[in-house]
Amino acid sequence: MAVTDTLVGVDLGTTKISAIIAEVNSDGEIQVVGVGNTASPGMRRGVVVNIEKTTEAIAEAVGQAEQMAGVKVKDVYVGIAGDHIRSINSRGVIAVSRGHAVDRSTVISQNDVERVIDAARAVALPMDREVLHVLPQGFTVDDEPGIRVPVGMTGLRLEADVHIITGAIASAQNIYRCVRRAGIGMRGLVLEPLASSYAVLGDEEKELGVCLLDLGGGTADIAVFEGGTIRHTSVIGLGGANVTRDIALVLGIPIEVAEKLKIERGNIYPPLTEGEPITVEIGDDMKPRQVDPAELNEIIRARMEEILEMVLRELKRVDCMRMIASGLVITGGGSLLRGTTMLAEEIFRKPIRVGVPRGLNGLADTVHNPAFATGVGLILYGLKYDGEVSFYGDESDLFSRILKLLKGWFHGLVN
Ligand SMILES: Nc1ncnc2c1ncn2[C@@H]1O[C@H](COP(=O)(O)OP(=O)(O)OP(=O)(O)O)[C@@H](O)[C@H]1O
Ligand SMILES: [Mg+2]
Repeated sequence: MAVTDTLVGVDLGTTKISAIIAEVNSDGEIQVVGVGNTASPGMRRGVVVNIEKTTEAIAEAVGQAEQMAGVKVKDVYVGIAGDHIRSINSRGVIAVSRGHAVDRSTVISQNDVERVIDAARAVALPMDREVLHVLPQGFTVDDEPGIRVPVGMTGLRLEADVHIITGAIASAQNIYRCVRRAGIGMRGLVLEPLASSYAVLGDEEKELGVCLLDLGGGTADIAVFEGGTIRHTSVIGLGGANVTRDIALVLGIPIEVAEKLKIERGNIYPPLTEGEPITVEIGDDMKPRQVDPAELNEIIRARMEEILEMVLRELKRVDCMRMIASGLVITGGGSLLRGTTMLAEEIFRKPIRVGVPRGLNGLADTVHNPAFATGVGLILYGLKYDGEVSFYGDESDLFSRILKLLKGWFHGLVN
């Protein structure tokens, strides 16, 4: 079948940068044709802290994927996270414009929908922040709430509820700079948990209410869906790297050794009470260390508990616990830690499952890993919202407008 488009997702993680190239055919099927993955030394807690190193890592990951796919990448969707991300729900109201026909009826047009969304997004923002996403949640026509597609309905007053996600302009511009310096164009900038949600959540879950929790190396990202639309997003600046640092500090061993120990021997639930000591090699001229597995897992569990409890507090703060009947779907490398789902069940008292990316063919095996949820999600998001893919009609118009807006925001930046 003919390839109609090539979509590329670049996940700028705190621990790894991964690039995924996928080809879309005329049936909308997606085939993964290239994957690249490198360490990410220029990022910290979800944001770029070293332009040079991040540029190199992006070029390296994209280069690997290009080689595998045998194609040259033109432009990419990139993820953005970091604890500078804020989200708010907002409402806009307009009077529906009168048509030109004789009866001057008030049938809602696409133009009215755009006007009401503009009205809803008109919130005062500090100078250093910009809007990343404006996601419509639902419309009210006169006094009828909960309408998803108002175009074509008759009414006098149109209200829109939207979820607005904002980020620090500087963080977004640094990402843009790195991608451009790596010789690649940027097709879209997408909030990471929003991207991940496209890879791991089902429509039914989003309808019933679900929380996506991406436990990464540097951040824990949250996205709550209910009634088929997004309700809340936020980013907490703690992740697997904190767990590793705790192990290194408490046991007095190098970071790389602590990371290996965590991945190979970490198992936090049920808590271990005893076990054979683990012999740990820490360097050529150093004496091996004996580590008590119960102590190791106590260190890991304490930090994981702290992270999950912060997520619980956040969900309670924004009154989302009652919305998530389907529970939580956990992705990111942190979801691979043994015992995480059981600990989460105890803390949240909700169903918990690990989210493995789906919806792809081809090299799908390579990305069949919760740590690739963001990379795969960027592609699925692109497929749904790209201005060039017109079969999604109205929504893509809206997206291309927002993309234009984003481009305006980057306009004037050198490099
Ligand atoms: N099997 C495992 N057991 C425990 N932890 C793991 C395992 N595999 C990966 N991790 C941890 O997951 C983290 C990396 O996850 P991931 O790749 O999702 O992060 P990232 O996308 O690079 O970072 P972020 O999204 O926070 O910017 C690391 O801290 C790593 O130690
Ligand atoms: Mg990540």
